[in-house]
Amino acid sequence: MKLLEKKFTKLISHTRSISVKVPEIRIYEVGPRDGLQNEAKFVPTEIKVELIHRLADAGIKDIESASFVSPKWVKQMSDGLDVMKTIKRTPGVNYPVLMPNIKGYEIAKKCNIEEIAIFPAGSEGFSQKNLNCSVAEGLKRFKDVADVAIKDGVRVRGYVSCVVGCPYDGPISPKTIAKITEELLSMGCYEISLGDTIGVGTAGSVQKLMREVLTVTTPDKLALHFHDTYGQGLSNLLAGLEFGVRTVDSSISGLGGCPYARGASGNLATEDLVYFLYGLGVNTDIDLLKLVEAGRFISNFLAKPPESRVNRALGDKFKDNRAIVDTAACNV
Ligand code: HMG
Ligand code: MG
Repeated sequence: MKLLEKKFTKLISHTRSISVKVPEIRIYEVGPRDGLQNEAKFVPTEIKVELIHRLADAGIKDIESASFVSPKWVKQMSDGLDVMKTIKRTPGVNYPVLMPNIKGYEIAKKCNIEEIAIFPAGSEGFSQKNLNCSVAEGLKRFKDVADVAIKDGVRVRGYVSCVVGCPYDGPISPKTIAKITEELLSMGCYEISLGDTIGVGTAGSVQKLMREVLTVTTPDKLALHFHDTYGQGLSNLLAGLEFGVRTVDSSISGLGGCPYARGASGNLATEDLVYFLYGLGVNTDIDLLKLVEAGRFISNFLAKPPESRVNRALGDKFKDNRAIVDTAACNV
């Protein structure tokens, strides 16, 4: 980010007029997991590992690196153990992994895990499709996982998916999401990530959701996980930040989606998020240029252009960093 500091000076003074004051934001990168799980082409272990290394090198401090789900359900994630055993861990970087049951936990324990993520659904329809069980049964299984993990000294993060809408059940009541959030907190989750799995939320629906969820907890226990299907990711994020949430999930290059959520598309892109935060005067200590390179690396492998608009804008003229200067100039 230091490189950008000088070059974006003009741009910052321009965009800082936005009224929200955001002191510090924690970026929780989900690209190696959420970003890749929906990709049809199998991404070899060494590519996943290289992506994780590049993200850490760009300054990302939380990288959800793998999932330990049934390989029969999500083949793309079937090499989680190899990935976790192969990565060279950067000190100070958190490498959480996601799992649906005790079986996943037992496998994940074969590598050095410090944090796990569990993921009940906010709707019956999605729970059945994604976990092959009801919401209540899912919560029971996740409690078993959380109990063992916490006993082992492993941090547990909870997701609630379909917090705004479900591809099978339609709109979801914020009260339902607040109740599941409360339940996850009572299991000992240190943080709950509110997942708009299919990206149907708008700033208006996010406001309603936040008002309800904040009747059961405080913003420091929450994270925002927005898929960007309708291009509402950043405005939804701004709506959430206004309620005091300071952890944001995003995915390199805007990759992402869930194989069991019809219509789910990529997450809010990490490059777009960093650019956005920089405009608000938030120093994330992330090197945007390295992030763009990481996004290009994985997009090239997948043989598709980055979903991230910032990546596209900066990446094409990347060689001599001229684009940074150009972008700043265009905005003042
Ligand atoms: P099931 O078929 O009911 O489970 O699936 P099962 O217990 O009958 O197991 C089926 C087979 O899988 C068995 O193998 C198990 O041993 C094996 P077999 O005996 O037939 O050879 N198995 C496992 N193997 C490795 N690791 C495991 C594991 N579990 C079972 N952990 C199950 C139920 C929950 C397992 C399945 O539905 C599943 O794996 N679901 C996960 C789906 C998934 O990964 N979805 C994407 C993540 S969620 C998401 O992206 C949303 C999020 O980003 C938030 C948001 O966007 O809102 C988090
Ligand atoms: Mg997701």
